[in-house]
Amino acid sequence: MRIVLVGPPGAGKGTQAVRLAEKLGIPHISTGDLFRANISRQTELGKLAKSYMDAGNLVPDEVTIAMAKDRMEQPDAENGFLLDGFPRNVSQAEALDELLRDEHMTLDAVLDLEVPEEEVVKRIAGRRICRNDSSHVFHVTYSKPEQEGVCDVCGGELYQRDDDSEDTVRKRLEVYHTQTEPIIDYYKAQELVVTISSLGPVDEITQRALEALKREKAGK
Ligand code: AP5
Repeated sequence: MRIVLVGPPGAGKGTQAVRLAEKLGIPHISTGDLFRANISRQTELGKLAKSYMDAGNLVPDEVTIAMAKDRMEQPDAENGFLLDGFPRNVSQAEALDELLRDEHMTLDAVLDLEVPEEEVVKRIAGRRICRNDSSHVFHVTYSKPEQEGVCDVCGGELYQRDDDSEDTVRKRLEVYHTQTEPIIDYYKAQELVVTISSLGPVDEITQRALEALKREKAGK
């Protein structure tokens, strides 16, 4: 399957993407994680991305699309992928459509995670991620690691993302509403959008998502 995951910062995209990708046997491709890996390796792309990310803005389309395309062309993505955080505006959505058309491929669904803004703020304030791999995500209250400050998956140090400060989160939410939300209408016109609530226990949301994707597939 080829799926796009969309939702505001803190909706639980990363948390759900890891689980859904495993259940569906497809790679989880997160542009945020790819940027953070570049930042920790101190590449030129990482240095450029950091300045935009720390301000809560989108990284320019040209570099983002090239990076996403490169990742989607890796052999493990041949039979499908779960995109998390890409596309993030209408021009990226158009670029993705073009890329898929060139490869004679189509998207199967756009999974839209709905969550109220006050919940987003609580989730982001308590989020801690792993220095070794930013897809290892915890929360100080909702998803506590066994040992405080230590990643359950790999033993890495847990830290708070630089862009999780209150001011930057407010900016990221504004960017989400103005630039990312319009892609939902873009994909509604293609009858691809499946909306689910992202409230409740993590495993229940995964189940909800799998059932919604199954219904979507059966209805085609
Ligand atoms: P990115 O890394 O994609 O961040 P985001 O979209 O803002 O989303 P988040 O990672 O903040 O939240 P999430 O929905 O993944 O939530 P999570 O599962 O962690 O992007 C960061 C930046 O990179 C952007 O601002 C931009 O600058 C740049 N960028 C990335 N892609 C780009 C693109 N395509 N174009 C341009 N720029 C781009 O969950 C949050 C917390 O809640 C966690 O602590 C988790 O444990 C907890 N939680 C999760 N589910 C639940 C639940 N059900 N109940 C209680 N707690 C929960």
